[in-house]
Amino acid sequence: MSFFKVAAATIGLAASLVSATHYEVTVGKNGQLKFDPEQLTANIGDTVTYKFFAKNHAVAQSTFDHPCQLQEHGIFSGFTPNQSPDVAAPTDFTITVTDTKPLWFYCPQQNGNHCQSGMVHAINAPAQGNTLQAYKDKAVGAPPSTPAVGTLPNGGLRKLHIDVGFDGKLVFNPNNVAELTGTVVEFSYLPKNHSIVQSSFDKPCQPLDGGFSAPFFPTQETTSGVTFEVTLKDNKPVWFYCAQTAATHCQAGMVGAINAPAEGANTFDAFKGLAAHAPPSTIPPNTPLGGALKVDGVLIPHIYNNVLDLAALSADWVNVVPAVGTELDPYLAGMAGGPSPKDYEWADTITQDGVDYLQVLLFQGNFIATLLIEGFARLTVGVWANQYPEAITQTLGSLAAQSVVRLRTYTDSLQHYKRELVKPCKYNLHMDSLDQWLQTVTEALSLSIGTTQDIIGLAAKTDEWMVTPLSTGLGAQSRMAAVISMMQSHIASPSPREPLIPFQLAWPHIARKYVVDGSCTESPAFGEMLPELQIVSENRASGRLVSVKVTLPQGTQGDRWLAWLGPWGTVEYSLVGADGVATAPTGLTGWVWVVLTTKKDVAARDIETVDASGIHMLWTTEQWTSPWAA
Ligand SMILES: *[C@@H]1O[C@H](CO)[C@@H](O)[C@H](O)[C@H]1NC(C)=O
Repeated sequence: MSFFKVAAATIGLAASLVSATHYEVTVGKNGQLKFDPEQLTANIGDTVTYKFFAKNHAVAQSTFDHPCQLQEHGIFSGFTPNQSPDVAAPTDFTITVTDTKPLWFYCPQQNGNHCQSGMVHAINAPAQGNTLQAYKDKAVGAPPSTPAVGTLPNGGLRKLHIDVGFDGKLVFNPNNVAELTGTVVEFSYLPKNHSIVQSSFDKPCQPLDGGFSAPFFPTQETTSGVTFEVTLKDNKPVWFYCAQTAATHCQAGMVGAINAPAEGANTFDAFKGLAAHAPPSTIPPNTPLGGALKVDGVLIPHIYNNVLDLAALSADWVNVVPAVGTELDPYLAGMAGGPSPKDYEWADTITQDGVDYLQVLLFQGNFIATLLIEGFARLTVGVWANQYPEAITQTLGSLAAQSVVRLRTYTDSLQHYKRELVKPCKYNLHMDSLDQWLQTVTEALSLSIGTTQDIIGLAAKTDEWMVTPLSTGLGAQSRMAAVISMMQSHIASPSPREPLIPFQLAWPHIARKYVVDGSCTESPAFGEMLPELQIVSENRASGRLVSVKVTLPQGTQGDRWLAWLGPWGTVEYSLVGADGVATAPTGLTGWVWVVLTTKKDVAARDIETVDASGIHMLWTTEQWTSPWAA
């Protein structure tokens, strides 16, 4: 059966994605001490962006009882000065609503007592009792507001937007701003053909060693959708330029600065003056570096020269899959600890089953590589920078690079046999927070390791050459699982204890949970998409999983079992009672996968022949707290 047999509709039906709403709130527009709208009702997952107007406002979170006082770990945007009453500041602040409890906000500007004068705001305020009006009334008599000017943002994404080539001119706009540490600077490409490269003050138009650099992007669109994001790691001055040599953009004044001293020798004007007389600009060879290049919000981890060719990227992603024998990008190969081999001891022919195995693994691998690269980008230059020691972050980076190298096992082999490649889809990566990302990676790796085990066993019978490269990939993924396990402060159980997961169960789980509806031009499908397993509750004693309650689909006839996929390819069955409760087998450790079945005592490898639901991952053991955790 071909991997591409069933049409795109399969995933369309399965992916029931709840779409989040995005709200915009103006802060102090037209000189009024007011949030507009003053209150709004939002669901979990919705986002709210605050736009700041004259004079110098912020949004801060308090408890209902103590208006105008930043609550402990409260959301805070940082102060955002702006001269204009009606043009928003280039910096805005976005929060994601994570529960439906009321959120109380105010502007903490002391100069003019903004909060005490009624400049307050609420999300999901009750209509009665503790209403927004009651909060506002309380604010009138509140003590002077906190926090102080200069306090760093917390609990949301502070973004500075810089236009690259504003109004068709050779300028960055704004080109000289003060910003707070932790702010994400988002450069948006505008017409003509610009790039963004960090320099030192002394050598404008030359790349700074270890600095960021983004490729050229020729465009005629004023909203090209292409952005480059850099996170401010400290408040030291950052100098940058456009490296276009065709019309000496840097020398013509296309330079910018963040946190340049306002006085002394190293002002922005002094930098611009130096640039005017600088020698020809240098174009950095490897881009993007030190920041995140995105097209319509989707990360482009990597491009093959220093000009971003959108047409090649979007029209046919396969075009950028390297052909067999193409040398791997040295930067990536270095990170991965070496390139992929030139060939894989391929046999003369491949079976159709063998093609299916490679395509399934490529489908999974595309998702995992995207997930890891996006996470690594956020940990190094994005919103999670400095959350883990450099050694851990860099280890993760090297494992992420290995996941890209591993894709070549599949793409090289499929190309070698002239078979179809599986294109990457758009993914819903489930990474709103660092913890959530770690959890998603855990699940993805467990699925991938489990599937690879399954396929190694199958390929041994049909396409033996595959066994060795797939086993190598297994090792890399297990190492990664151990690092992630440590970052989650879990016992490092996944490494020796991965379950075997039939690939027929794994890919629909990924398709349903992680693939954006309709984003795969040719959706992979390999048989039926079973309904997801609904776990109603988990019953634990001293942390250990004792039983679970599942929803039995309406009209279920006959007995149902819960199959528990454990290490070494073991599987244990427990009967699901009429109430949906199934006892957990004793002695399970770490993560296990469960699936509802119509029969028991079937080997793990053959579970897909008796499954009645999709799969679900459960933690079975007591939580473990690392002794070195604070
Ligand atoms: C954009 O500029 C780069 C660098 O000068 C150049 O290599 C590239 O050909 C330009 N692209 C277009 C379409 O002008």
